Amino acid sequence: MSASNLPRVPVMRPQLPTASELHPYIERIDTARYYSNHGPLLIELEAAFAAHFRVAPSQVALINNGTVALSAALVAAGARPGSKCLLPSWTFVGSASAVWAANLVPHFVDVDPDTWMLDLDRLKQRPDLHEVGAVMIVSAFGSPVVTAACDRFTEETGIPVIIDCAASFDTVATVPAAAPGRSPIMISLHATKVLGTGEGGLVLSTDEALVRRLNQVCNFGVWDSPAGQILGYNGKMSEYNAAVGLAFLKTWPDRRAQLAALTDRYQRLLKSKPGIDVLPAFGSGWVSCYCNISPNRGTSDANILALAERGIETRRWWQSGVHVQQAYKAFPRDPLPVTEHLAKRVFGVPFFHDLSDNDFERVASGIDAIL
Ligand SMILES: Cc1ncc(COP(=O)(O)O)c(C=O)c1O
Repeated sequence: MSASNLPRVPVMRPQLPTASELHPYIERIDTARYYSNHGPLLIELEAAFAAHFRVAPSQVALINNGTVALSAALVAAGARPGSKCLLPSWTFVGSASAVWAANLVPHFVDVDPDTWMLDLDRLKQRPDLHEVGAVMIVSAFGSPVVTAACDRFTEETGIPVIIDCAASFDTVATVPAAAPGRSPIMISLHATKVLGTGEGGLVLSTDEALVRRLNQVCNFGVWDSPAGQILGYNGKMSEYNAAVGLAFLKTWPDRRAQLAALTDRYQRLLKSKPGIDVLPAFGSGWVSCYCNISPNRGTSDANILALAERGIETRRWWQSGVHVQQAYKAFPRDPLPVTEHLAKRVFGVPFFHDLSDNDFERVASGIDAIL
């Protein structure tokens, strides 16, 4: 078979619970006739996530997707409407759309080359902090964000920090420095993420008043009383999505073991190859849903094409950063040399729990070929 006729190796292949795994939960919904509005399955999932992240259930909020959860977290944390929100351009566009939806002005800041994330110590030196209503730090593809540093930044500057940990379902639970603090952490429960409910978002914070406010924002501004108390919208998660989360959690230990084995395998492969950089924190004890590489030779376009010719799908998950995307071009930004460097080189290779040995070997020889 010629290379172009080989079956394609997909870059990602999500798998949520099957119909039979979901069945007992759907039956419970049928019996209870309770479909949304903080129903019994949602409360059970909140408690299960609280145990997973070692926090109290009152420190967990379940929202209908990660973007709404991020946006509501900005509102609940008290970010001044109309002010700037500092965030990296090196992220998925959803981070910036959450800022826009919270009535803030996205201002793109460069990332640190050693972490691919914002450096809060550098942000503290900025002369424009008086214009800044919030900071959104984005975990690079599941990398740990040190929550104590975020809380310290808020204590010292009065500016809330929101942590976009979209792909950090495992990191936040397993890396002690990334465990929840006061600064709200958002974890996406989208089908493509580490643990999915289809669509969904999870917020964690030890600031229980903030979590309560966030639930209120996502329930039309209403909580414990039928009257609108503050401004809000509908960001509730339904019982059906909660059912998917409960069924998925049962299989999490097996899923995690598969992701850890693949992470280990990629790490050993990539370590042995000179001329290729990897996400700096990749393979340091946590698992995610991505493996991003940065070959030193060639642009990502040329390398992606060479792999595509071998039937290997890749994805520039964060494209060229958000600041060059049409809808965000006009927003303020700093010079972004590190982002521009990463944007030219980084792309994701096939990474999902049941990537076969044969497909892994095809990716490995494709990487050899581009080097
Ligand atoms: C870094 C980042 N932030 C935010 C989001 C938005 O999450 P959701 O898709 O759950 O709205 C994503 C989702 O892909 C993401 O990767």
